[in-house]
Amino acid sequence: DWTPGNVIADQVEAIRAQVGDARVICGLSGGVDSSVAAALVQRAVGDQLTCVFVDHGLLRSGEAEQVEEEFVASTGVNLVVVDAQQRFLDALAGVSDPETKRKIIGREFIRVFEQAARDIVAAADAHDEDVKFLVQGTLYPDVVESGGGEGAANIKSHHNVGGLPDDLAFDLVEPLRTLFKDEVRAVGLELGVPEGIVWRQPFPGPGLGIRIVGEVTHERLETLRAADAIAREELTKAGLDREIWQCPVVLLADVRSVGVQGDGRTYGHPVVLRPVSSEDAMTADWTRVPYDVLADISTRITNEVADVNRVVLDVTSKPPGTIEWE
Ligand code: XMP
Repeated sequence: DWTPGNVIADQVEAIRAQVGDARVICGLSGGVDSSVAAALVQRAVGDQLTCVFVDHGLLRSGEAEQVEEEFVASTGVNLVVVDAQQRFLDALAGVSDPETKRKIIGREFIRVFEQAARDIVAAADAHDEDVKFLVQGTLYPDVVESGGGEGAANIKSHHNVGGLPDDLAFDLVEPLRTLFKDEVRAVGLELGVPEGIVWRQPFPGPGLGIRIVGEVTHERLETLRAADAIAREELTKAGLDREIWQCPVVLLADVRSVGVQGDGRTYGHPVVLRPVSSEDAMTADWTRVPYDVLADISTRITNEVADVNRVVLDVTSKPPGTIEWE
């Protein structure tokens, strides 16, 4: 019988058998997969697990707090938070090319995570077994697709902390390897993972870093975070969260548009709304969000977010457009 309870019971037993008394480390991204994997391992081996959350400053409004507060409160997990916001901003300074941004973010992420992992291993008891384990939220579709070069396996490498150096020598714990996304969500709910995390829409590892067309700066991140929070709030209020696969909000930081606000003309930036409907992100269609909802989002963003004087809607399917703009 497939029930979330049975999956949990089986996995708890398997995880205990695999890791014994050793220490286990898990990188949390704030996404569904790593959160549920961590909660499952926590259920199995409790304090042997330490989670690491690298705050790269490219998350959306409220997401870091959700991991640091709600997730910890609901699972009791040991969490190390590394505030690496300035480090990422420094590394991204002056960079506009999307693939270069991705590479920098991926590289810095691994470096920060690696250092945190070393610190945790070094601080561990001398009695601990030598073998240490790393939890990964690999799902069944990731396993199936991992043959290819481009695509999901590659795309997921940021989230899954692939590419750690050999001398860290972790064995992998992958308790979600046989599950599909909907099953992972059911298991997560059964484990008490907060709904806001369990039902989170996909969000790229490089985060808002690839949703600012142009250089990433602190100020631009604040602008985009504010616009994104408004779009999400209104889409949620309209009951569209399940119909929409994800809705990137993109700041065209290198484009300026003329507007008229209050007494004068402004010279600000457009943001793009990119609501898409999809089954698996390989193909997608633009979601026909009701005009009234779009109007509310547009009015609020232009009223409430300084520097944004225009809201535009992306009506391109995938292919030919990708979901993200960069
Ligand atoms: P595209 O833009 O290629 O996106 O249609 C397909 C899905 O992948 C996500 N995405 C990424 N995820 N690192 C990630 O972890 C990335 O560099 C990356 N680029 C795109 C995107 O949000 C969508 O869900």
